[in-house]
Amino acid sequence: MVNIPLANPSRELEYISNFDEKLSKQLRGGVYIGGESVNNFENNFKKIIGTKYCVSLNSGTDALILALIALGIKKGDKVLVPSFTFFSTVECILQLNAIPVFVDINLQNYTLDLNDFSKKATSKIKAAIPVHLFGNDAQITEIKKICIEKNIKLVEDVAQAFGSKNEKNNFLGSIGDIGAFSFFPSKTLGGIGDGGCITTNNYQIYKKIKMLKNHGQIKKYKHEIVGGNSRLDSINAFILNEKLAIFSKIRNTRNKFYKFYLDNLNDIEWINLPKKNNNETVLNYFTISVPVNIRSRLMAYLSQKNIGNAIYYKTPIHHQKVITKNSKKIKLKNTESASKSVLSLPLYSFPTDDELEYIVTSIRKFR
Ligand SMILES: Cc1ncc(COP(=O)(O)O)c(C=O)c1O
Repeated sequence: MVNIPLANPSRELEYISNFDEKLSKQLRGGVYIGGESVNNFENNFKKIIGTKYCVSLNSGTDALILALIALGIKKGDKVLVPSFTFFSTVECILQLNAIPVFVDINLQNYTLDLNDFSKKATSKIKAAIPVHLFGNDAQITEIKKICIEKNIKLVEDVAQAFGSKNEKNNFLGSIGDIGAFSFFPSKTLGGIGDGGCITTNNYQIYKKIKMLKNHGQIKKYKHEIVGGNSRLDSINAFILNEKLAIFSKIRNTRNKFYKFYLDNLNDIEWINLPKKNNNETVLNYFTISVPVNIRSRLMAYLSQKNIGNAIYYKTPIHHQKVITKNSKKIKLKNTESASKSVLSLPLYSFPTDDELEYIVTSIRKFR
């Protein structure tokens, strides 16, 4: 029976040469925390992204929290952030008792609306966390200009956009003060469990996050500040290194998937297909938008055909129970509209021709 998942990270393992042998050697080597695979991963990653530093971490969530701590964000500070994102982007602000100031999105690629951003970027704002949602550049060049002008610290949430570049050919995550990545298995660079990292060109930030992730120590048992344990596991770093080595194939086959959808669904008038900002964009999700009255029927139909589908994001963060203060007064028109119409379809590396054919044929038969 056909079963098409929304994401398929284990498929990539089949394309790593001598994978079983290498993994066995890694496991039998007995180094499970730190060591060569973690150092190699950080070095490879920063070379690709083009920053001076990379600190590997246990998750994208901790990457965001540690980024804000390293930038000195504290209780009462205001931080610009979209509401149309995964909870972590806002959670990191709430963890520090800082205040999220929600910015609306545009309906072209669901990243921040530049007009709303520049209106809200006042001298009272301490930091901003634009999200490169679904893999698309959140107009980071323009956002950075505004942030520099207004003295706002800039953290890029690159959880969904490893491998994508902006119009100047710079990798996303290399442009703000800090890039915060996630290696959750379904991401464009997905690990075998939780994982993440930060990238930066600032030595002080690098040093601080390196300490924070490891109990406030730089040297073993010399605790200079209060930190915690946010380390990336060595076996996960090993897998991520192997995936970095085949990333050009991951990129090409994801792009092939994307193009197949475009070529085969572009004449269906009730589907709004996702656009890429540029040719150097690697999408994490293939997010269409459909009329409100069609979405739940289409989801039921796809599920019945065993085709993975999900809504990212059905409930904008400003409507979550945890956001209580003034939540009724927050007006985010495009965020509300997107949450009612978006639907993400399968998108993964190394799809077979049969899988691609099955998905689009099924969608074409809907209604
Ligand atoms: C936009 C965004 N930010 C942050 C995160 C948090 O990453 P993690 O799950 O690795 O903690 C995720 C993903 O899960 C995400 O999609």
